[in-house]
Amino acid sequence: MAPVRLAAVLLALVVPPAPAADEAQLKRGEVLFQAADCLACHTDVKGDGAPLAGGRPLATPFGVFFSPNISPDPQTGIGAWSEAEFRRALRQGVGRLGEYLFPVFPYPAFTGMTDADIADLYAYLRTRAPAAQPDRPHQLRFPFGWRFLQLLWRALFFRQGPLPPVAGESPEWNRGRYLAEAVVHCQQCHTPRNLLGGLETGRAFSGNPQGPDGMKVPNITGDGETGIGKWSLEDIATLLKTGQTPDMDFVGSGMGDVVKGTAALTDADRRAIAVYIKSLPAIRTAKTPAF
Ligand code: HEC
Ligand code: HEC
Repeated sequence: MAPVRLAAVLLALVVPPAPAADEAQLKRGEVLFQAADCLACHTDVKGDGAPLAGGRPLATPFGVFFSPNISPDPQTGIGAWSEAEFRRALRQGVGRLGEYLFPVFPYPAFTGMTDADIADLYAYLRTRAPAAQPDRPHQLRFPFGWRFLQLLWRALFFRQGPLPPVAGESPEWNRGRYLAEAVVHCQQCHTPRNLLGGLETGRAFSGNPQGPDGMKVPNITGDGETGIGKWSLEDIATLLKTGQTPDMDFVGSGMGDVVKGTAALTDADRRAIAVYIKSLPAIRTAKTPAF
């Protein structure tokens, strides 16, 4: 074999066959990855786990879920997943073997993402360090571990995306809605849930005293007493950038992680989210929950 051809063959062995993602795409993917908070759920911080290797416990009324490994390790992570399989997980909440995923994974929000954004996210995830760590089985109360029951849940509560823009609303409002609903998934924490774990859409954004992982999540609708009606647009945008509230406090709990993500967005994007949040109908909750 001529040396040139030999070199070409060797090169073909080391260079991955898929077209390499460009820098701009990876940057976009990184911002989405941060804003959607994938890292916080998929890393067992308390257990000193490797980034994205999973194993973080998530307590719910149905039992304890352990997040799976989504690092690019081909055996224990999602390194062997195609882009189409990854898209199906986010868009449809369906795993690689066709199984229904549990909505503790916020696919009911991520379903709203565009194909282009999901492709950027996929490209970025593939650049992360692979970590070999097998998934830990969930510890769910009977009969919630039966994945086929998800068929019922999905029929009741799941509406497949992508999220279409609302005609008659400004591009800024639509951008804010897209980020809040599909990417940062505010409702997954800020909207109360019914007994089956579905979002109570009639009380959207009005807070959840028993939020995910026992978090106390405040009302962020425009009610002046029990919500954030007194906050200006800038107040909301500032919180999403620095974590600081108008009374000079800093948010903690799950919102601390959220802010690390929204801090990576542009000022225009944070403002767009604030415009959308400001447009929500005010809902008065029974009393101001004691936080
Ligand atoms: C609120 C916590 C949470 C967030 C945020 C989250 N995930 Fe997950 N994710 C989970 C849990 C829990 C599962 C397991 C669901 C199941 O077993 O049905 C999961 C499952 C998955 C799966 C399927 C993996 C498998 O092995 O079947 C993929 C892919 C995934 N998540 C990717 C992501 C990406 C990408 C993001 C950010 C855009 C993200 N997740 C954000 C908790 C989360
Ligand atoms: C992972 C769950 C989670 C997500 C997702 C989330 N939040 Fe929060 N949020 C919280 C919690 C918990 C608090 C209370 C923080 C504290 O007690 O320090 C909070 C507090 C806030 C506050 C302060 C309210 C007050 O009265 O002090 C605002 C405003 C807010 N969130 C807006 C948002 C917006 C907008 C989004 C989406 C872009 C969002 N949150 C997504 C959990 C979440």
